[in-house]
Amino acid sequence: MQKNLGKIAGVWPMPVLMIATYDEDGTVNVMNAAWGQVCDTDKLILILDGTHKTVANIRRRKAFTVALADWRHLAEADYFGTVSGNQVPDKFAMTGLVARKSEFVDAPVVEAFPFVMECELAEELPSIEGFVGRIVNAAADESVLDENGKVDPAKLGAIAFDPFRHGYYAIGEKVGRAWHDGRKFIR
Ligand SMILES: Cc1cc2nc3c(=O)[nH]c(=O)nc-3n(C[C@H](O)[C@H](O)[C@H](O)COP(=O)(O)O)c2cc1C
Repeated sequence: MQKNLGKIAGVWPMPVLMIATYDEDGTVNVMNAAWGQVCDTDKLILILDGTHKTVANIRRRKAFTVALADWRHLAEADYFGTVSGNQVPDKFAMTGLVARKSEFVDAPVVEAFPFVMECELAEELPSIEGFVGRIVNAAADESVLDENGKVDPAKLGAIAFDPFRHGYYAIGEKVGRAWHDGRKFIR
């Protein structure tokens, strides 16, 4: 028996994306974004409120990096979604994390996060507060790669955002194989 719950945009899991940018002075800023997705083989879309420092930075620098937050840095990730660079200019420095300049785009790479996509701004979609990033490079910490050099989700330790009760969840247990387990229904 199902119970109606009203309007809930309940897509689960949602990602915990770390959007890193430089401001006008070259200060590093990072924000947390769950409203983001892959929208092409080499593109991501982020839905970003126009008041965020991140948005001003992206418009100015035309670039950003998107890292997957992992459970080891959950508190830092949550802090990046709680405090704005508009109020706390040295927001990133407060965490003690370290960033290097991307070799590919005008944006910082936070070294602690195990997987990052370096993006140039491809398009802004004002009607949905959308920012499309073209991925020009992705990088991963060697510790999360498998023997074939591919990212191993179990090692990655990426966390997910729960839109129902606002929890963070660990993900990574493999429970099946895509384009494989459904084959048993093909006759
Ligand atoms: C779990 C979580 C997810 C969030 N997702 C988004 C998002 O997708 N888009 C958005 O505009 N703000 C989102 N926020 C809010 C921003 O991260 C937050 O307002 C942040 O302080 C903005 O930082 P900035 O002003 O330094 O750019 C999220 C916050 C949290 C805690």
